[in-house]
Amino acid sequence: MLRGCLTRFGAVFSESLMVRTVGLICLPLLLAVGLAVVVAISFSNRDARTALEARARQTVALLAGGVGDALWNVDRVAAQSILHPLSKDPDFVGAVVFERGGSVFLGLGEVDPPRSGLIVEQVSLIRLTAGGQAGEQGRGQHIGQLRLYLTTANAERTINSRAWAIALSGLGLLVAVCGLLAVIVRGVTAPVRQMTDGMAVLAAGRIDLEIPRVDRRDEIGRMAAALGTLKQHAAERLEFIERQARHMEVIEEIVAKRTGELTAALETLKLAQNELIRSEKLAALGGMVAAIAHEINTPIGSSLTVATTLSDKITEFQAILQGKELRRSVIRDYSDSFGTASQLLVGNLLRASELIGRFKRVAVDQTGELRRRFELDVVCGEVVAMLRPTYRHSPVSIDLRLPGGVVMDSFPGALGQVLTNLMTNAMLHAFADATAAGSITVGATLEEDGRHVTLTVADDGAGIPAAVLPRIFDPFFTTKLGSGGSGLGLHIVYAIVMRVLGGVVAVESQIGQGTRFSIVLPLVAPQQSGQDAVEEPVIMPS
Ligand SMILES: Nc1ncnc2c1ncn2[C@@H]1O[C@H](COP(=O)(O)OP(=O)(O)OP(=O)(O)O)[C@@H](O)[C@H]1O
Ligand SMILES: [Mg+2]
Repeated sequence: MLRGCLTRFGAVFSESLMVRTVGLICLPLLLAVGLAVVVAISFSNRDARTALEARARQTVALLAGGVGDALWNVDRVAAQSILHPLSKDPDFVGAVVFERGGSVFLGLGEVDPPRSGLIVEQVSLIRLTAGGQAGEQGRGQHIGQLRLYLTTANAERTINSRAWAIALSGLGLLVAVCGLLAVIVRGVTAPVRQMTDGMAVLAAGRIDLEIPRVDRRDEIGRMAAALGTLKQHAAERLEFIERQARHMEVIEEIVAKRTGELTAALETLKLAQNELIRSEKLAALGGMVAAIAHEINTPIGSSLTVATTLSDKITEFQAILQGKELRRSVIRDYSDSFGTASQLLVGNLLRASELIGRFKRVAVDQTGELRRRFELDVVCGEVVAMLRPTYRHSPVSIDLRLPGGVVMDSFPGALGQVLTNLMTNAMLHAFADATAAGSITVGATLEEDGRHVTLTVADDGAGIPAAVLPRIFDPFFTTKLGSGGSGLGLHIVYAIVMRVLGGVVAVESQIGQGTRFSIVLPLVAPQQSGQDAVEEPVIMPS
């Protein structure tokens, strides 16, 4: 209970500036007033008692002579008349005259009152001997005693009423001070509280607060002005944020709309792309069929013509055989014709068979290829030597820059095929003008890792246009369609290098400068043919 009260008081004390200020000033003041009252009462008490004692002493001393005479003369009436004026004193309680033996000679008022709150003063009654004065003991004879009782009640009453007056005026002063203080502090705290409430409203993000009108030039006035500025800034910031939010909404709408449009466009693009791929494939297929048809059509067409002619000749010859005029010269003519026709037939059919064989090789079914250890320069040298007669009359020179001792465990037949195709291409495409001189260089370099070798076939001929370069490895891509090219040579190179030899092929070319094919091969070919390899050839127009 007490703790609860203290806690509540502590909370009010710490939360209210007014309570704290008034409390801090008024509490000591209250203590001071209380202390002053207590001190005043105790001092007054002491002073009043001292004064009363002095009065009692003076009174008994004054009456001692007369009362002593009356006692000596045993004159009670005289003694009573001497003491009687005492009864008028408001503080008088009683007075007693004792005889020498201690018995009461005369009593006035209360003779034996209770002693609390009393001042008791007594004096010996002396019968003066000659030359002595009353009160000078030793010079007179002790005949009795006078005792006076005075009460302190009246003095205490006066003191109490005075103390109350002090206390009440002190309290009045205290109340006045506290009231004044409260008015002063309220003049500060009330606008401060209004402003702190306003700040809380501002902090909560609202700007609908009323700034208290303070027409003051002191700190409170300046604080109110600052709060007004703060409110204005907050309002501006809020407006800015709202404006931004509205912008963001608009932007989000635009983005959503654009995203929708882009998604739709992407879908259309995907459809178009699929359509394009499909039509590209169809076009490639069409091109392939056209190439095959064109290539095979020539020898087959020739064969058909020759076969038809041969058939006609045979019919003619059979008719001649049935007739009677069968001359030796006629037989020789027909025999020659048959011979020529069959030679043409065989030649054309061989050409057709050879073409079909080449088309079949696109599948790169190299399972029958023999794997063995061989020296690179020896195999390459043999291939070049085999090709050399073909270009006997060409002004193009062939340079071999092959280091000796590079031993490979691979497929020499496949490697020979690659080299043949690249050299044939160089002759046919780089040096299409049969009279132009140039050179084809076949080189090899052992890689630093000691496990790979780079084979290069470079020419300084026409070069390949940049637009064509990315397509040269595509099957059936040729710039010589209709004049001997089937567009399979480089595709076969690519397929053999990738799937049989386990290497990679790259090309760099520049118009008028020449073309260089680089093939990086492992010295030991992979055990399994890389049917699944997907690595693309590297094409670098230089
Ligand atoms: N060394 C080269 N210089 C210039 N162009 C080349 C060279 N090698 C290849 N090409 C170009 O690359 C194309 C494709 O070559 P690829 O060997 O695949 O087909 P092709 O030689 O035309 O026909 P095929 O080899 O089947 O008889 C060629 O038509 C040619 O345009
Ligand atoms: Mg070719």
